[in-house]
Amino acid sequence: MQPALQTAWLTRVRDHMAARSTDMAESVARVDVARYTDPARLAAEQALFRRTPLALSFASKLAQPGDYVTHDLAGLPILLLRDAGGELQAFLNVCRHRGAKLVWERGGCGKRTLTCPYHAWSYDLTGKLRGIPHEAGFAGLDRAQHNLVRLPVAEAFGLVFVLPEPSDDYDFSGFLAGVKDDLDSFGLGSHVLYDEREIGLRCNWKVVIEGGLETYHVQHAHKRTIAPMFADNVAVADRLEPHARLYFTKRNAAELGDDLSGRNVRDYGNPLYYIFPNLIILVQPDHATVMTVFPQGADACIVQGGALIPQPPATEKATTYWDKNVKIFWDALDEDFQMGQAIQAGFRAGANTHVTFGRFEQACAWFHDSLDKRLTP
Ligand code: FES
Ligand SMILES: [Fe+2]
Repeated sequence: MQPALQTAWLTRVRDHMAARSTDMAESVARVDVARYTDPARLAAEQALFRRTPLALSFASKLAQPGDYVTHDLAGLPILLLRDAGGELQAFLNVCRHRGAKLVWERGGCGKRTLTCPYHAWSYDLTGKLRGIPHEAGFAGLDRAQHNLVRLPVAEAFGLVFVLPEPSDDYDFSGFLAGVKDDLDSFGLGSHVLYDEREIGLRCNWKVVIEGGLETYHVQHAHKRTIAPMFADNVAVADRLEPHARLYFTKRNAAELGDDLSGRNVRDYGNPLYYIFPNLIILVQPDHATVMTVFPQGADACIVQGGALIPQPPATEKATTYWDKNVKIFWDALDEDFQMGQAIQAGFRAGANTHVTFGRFEQACAWFHDSLDKRLTP
C-alpha cells in the first residue's frame, strides 16, 4: 500500500484510539424496510446487477488454457474459460441452436471444445461455432451469426470480473479505478484460492453486505470469535463512490506512537474494500478473504466466498495454518449470517418501518445511496 496512505490511516486510527472516537458522518441515515422485502425493488436491483461488473470467479480457477467455470447466480447462465491462446473469455452459457445450456458442470480443466448436450453443436474456446451434426438440415445458416455471445471480462486482484451484458468496449479499469492501486499493492493478483464456499441464506442480500460495512457490531455479535482482536467501534471510512474503503482497527493500535514510519497497516487492523454492488475483500495480515452476495429473491441470497492466499500450501503445517485462519473467518461470518436471517424475519414482522444507520455506520448509508443512484438506468 502507498506509504502516504498507510501513514494517513495509522494517524487517524492512533488519534481515534487516544480520543476514544471513530470516523463519523455528519448525521444518521434512514432507509425504508420495504427495500428489503419489496419484489419490485428486488427486480430493479437484479436489473442493476445485469449492467454492473460482478466478480464471478477466483482467477486461480482459470489459470490454465482449458480451465472453465460456470456461474448461474447473477440471473443468467455464464461460462468463463481460458482459451487455447491463454485469453480469458466469458460467454452466455447458451447454445445458439435452440438455447440449451452448453456447459453444465460447475467447473473443471482440460476443456478443448464446447459441445452442446442437446444436439451436439460444438464451439471452440473462443466461442466460434465449429460443428453442426447433419449440417445439410441447416442449409443457408450463417455460421458467423451463431457464435457464442461474448461478455466483457477482466482479471483484477485475484478475481475475474464479468459484465453480464454484451458490450464492445467496457472500461473495467475505469470502474475499479478507486480501489485498484490499493488492492494491487497487496499483491492479490498472484494469490490463489483456498477453501471456497457457497452458502444459501434466508435474507435480503443487502443485509449481508451491511454486516461487512461497520465494526459497531463486532464486540457484541462476534464476542465468541473475533471480538478480542478488535478495538470497540474504531474505524476509518473513505467513500470511493460507488465503492468504499474501511479500516477496522485492532486493539494493538493503542500502542502506535508518534513515529509511524515503517509501520505496516496490515499489522494494526484489517483494510476492507467494498466494491459495488456485492463484493467485499477483507485484507488480513498475510492473506485476504473474499465474499460476494447474489440476490435470489427478496428474502433469499447466496453467498460465495473463499480466501486468497499467497501460494498453495505445500506442507501439512501450512495446510493446518490456513485451515485455522480461514475457519475464524467463516465462523465469524456465520454469526453475521445468523443475525442477517433473524433481521429479515424481523423485517417481515412489521415492527420497524425503517432502519437507522448511526453516524459510524456511514458506509451502510453510502451503500444504499450508491444503489439508489443507479437503480434507474
Ligand atoms: S440446443 Fe444446442 S445443439 Fe441444439
Ligand atoms: Fe460481522
